[in-house]
Amino acid sequence: MGWKEELSSLIQNRNTRSKLRFDEPLGKHNYFGIGGNAAAYFEVSTTDELAQVAQLKKRWEVPVALIGRGSNLLVSDAGYSGIVVRLIGEFNRLEFDQNRVDVGAGVSLPRLSKIAANRGLSGVEFALGIPGSVGGALIMNAGAWGSSFGDLVERVQVMTEEGEPIDLNHDDAQFSYRHSGLKPYFCVTEATLTLTPGDAEEVDALMQDLYNQKITSQPFAEENAGCMFKNPPGHSAGKLIDECGLKGHRVGGAEVSKIHGNFILNLDNATAQDVLSLVRHIQNRVKRERGVDLEMEVQLLGF
Ligand code: EPU
Repeated sequence: MGWKEELSSLIQNRNTRSKLRFDEPLGKHNYFGIGGNAAAYFEVSTTDELAQVAQLKKRWEVPVALIGRGSNLLVSDAGYSGIVVRLIGEFNRLEFDQNRVDVGAGVSLPRLSKIAANRGLSGVEFALGIPGSVGGALIMNAGAWGSSFGDLVERVQVMTEEGEPIDLNHDDAQFSYRHSGLKPYFCVTEATLTLTPGDAEEVDALMQDLYNQKITSQPFAEENAGCMFKNPPGHSAGKLIDECGLKGHRVGGAEVSKIHGNFILNLDNATAQDVLSLVRHIQNRVKRERGVDLEMEVQLLGF
C-alpha cells in the first residue's frame, strides 16, 4: 500500500464530511487562480483525521501543505507533489464566552469579523476585508489599519508533527510584523481571542468604515493574493513600487495594480512564472532606484 491508498483509507467507509481528491487543480483553491495540480487535495473535518495526516506525512515522508483559504498564496505551474490540506468541519468552530472567543483555524476572517460585530465585540473590525482563514492569520500575524491578529491572541492550539495537540500562550507564539513562531508546527488548529466589549452599532460602523477604506485604496475585483511584499522598516512597499513608476507594468498575464503598487493582478491567465518574473523585476528596480530590499509576503507553494 502507498501513501495515496492509506490516505483514501482514512475516510473510506466512515461517516465523515471530509473530502479527498487526487490530481486536483489548485488554481480553483487560491485567490490568484494560478497553479498546477496537487497530487492530493484533502478537506479535513476532524482533529482525529488531521492527526492521522500528520502521522502519514512522517511515515511516508510525503510533503503536506496547509493552504488556509488560499488568499495569500502563489502555487507553482508544476503544482504540488504532496497533500494540500484545507480545514473544514470541526475547524469552523466559533464559541463565545463573554468577550472571549474560541475560534477554529478554518474560520474565515470576514465571518469572524461580522459575528463579533453582531455581538458588540471590538478587536477584529479590521479583518472584514481580509479573505484569509484564522489559521493563516495566526501564522502570518495578518493585519491592517494598525491592528494585527496576534495582538488579540490569548492561546493558540497547534498540532505537532506527531499529531499531538499543544497549547501555546501569547508569548510562546512569538508574534511580530507579518510573522509568528507557529510555522514549524504541523498545523495551527484553533485560538482563544480576547475581544473588547463595546456597542454593536459602533463596532459595525468601524468595521464597515475600514472595509470601505480598503476597497477604495486596494484592488478587489481582479484575482490577486493581497499585498505581495512586506513593508520594509520605515517604508510602504506599495509607495516605493509606485514611485519607481511600476504601476501597470506587465509580464505575460500578470500586472502591477494601477490602484495600489503592492498588488499583482492575474489579469489574463497569468502563470506563476509570469508573477514571479514580475516580482523579480520589481525587486530589482526598487533595489536599484531606492536601495531597499523587498521581501515577499505571499507564500510560495510547490517551487
Ligand atoms: N501609497 C502610494 N502608492 C501606492 C500605494 C500606497 O503612494 O501605490 C501610499 C498611500 O497613499 C499611503 C502609504 O503609501 O500614504 C501607505 O499605503 P496604505 O495605507 O495602502 O498601506 P500599506 O502600507 O501599503 C498596509 C498593509 C496592507 C493593509 C494596509 C491598510 C502590508 C504589506 N500592507 O499597506 O495589508 O491592508 O496597510 O492597513 O503590511 C496585506 O498584508 O496583504 C495587506 C494588503
